[in-house]
Amino acid sequence: MTPKLIIGVLVSGRGTNLQQILDDVENGKLHASVLVVVSNRESAQALAKAKAHGIPTIVIDPKTYASTEEYDGAILDALKNHGVDLVVLAGYMKVVSSVLIEAYRNRMMNIHPSLLPAFPGLHAQRQALECGVKMAGCTVHFVAEEVDAGPIILQAAVPVEEHDTEESLSARILEQEHQILPKALQLYSEGRLKVVGRRVEIADA
Ligand code: GAR
Repeated sequence: MTPKLIIGVLVSGRGTNLQQILDDVENGKLHASVLVVVSNRESAQALAKAKAHGIPTIVIDPKTYASTEEYDGAILDALKNHGVDLVVLAGYMKVVSSVLIEAYRNRMMNIHPSLLPAFPGLHAQRQALECGVKMAGCTVHFVAEEVDAGPIILQAAVPVEEHDTEESLSARILEQEHQILPKALQLYSEGRLKVVGRRVEIADA
């Protein structure tokens, strides 16, 4: 068996994607270990979820750093100290700088609640409703310099229903996020993802 993939997760809020990753590690679906969870917000509920699984958590407050680069340098130190191979942005609501992107090129994944390249940025589900699309969804991609635009690993689509609100659409999309994020991580852990230009090739099992 290949050695376990060491994952570090960056979070800012609720942490349901983190919870799903932790559950899938525990139930054996995901051959990996989460060794550290880092948050930019002390109040993130995700921190309690990590602690409940005995995973070390670190809060790094951006306000205490002079620049985003210095702040990301502190995050990088925390990730390296824990031997992290792959970084997951799971509801991490902060743009990452080249400090992290270069150190973890094609080794940092983000989950975004839209079918990218549609609706990057904040409130993706609201943007989808306002635009009137009939299909929405979510994307797991490698993080690159342009926000929400790195090589796409997996996507899942859901229908937009006539009376959807931002909440109901977000909940339908979230169910799919919980499927495709651990799946992308497992593909990575099996060494099956290869970035070729803008594309991610997925090797057969
Ligand atoms: C998820 O919907 C995730 O896709 C989104 O934040 C939510 C976090 O939920 N991320 C972004 O919008 C990033 N641009 P969670 O904290 O329960 O995992």
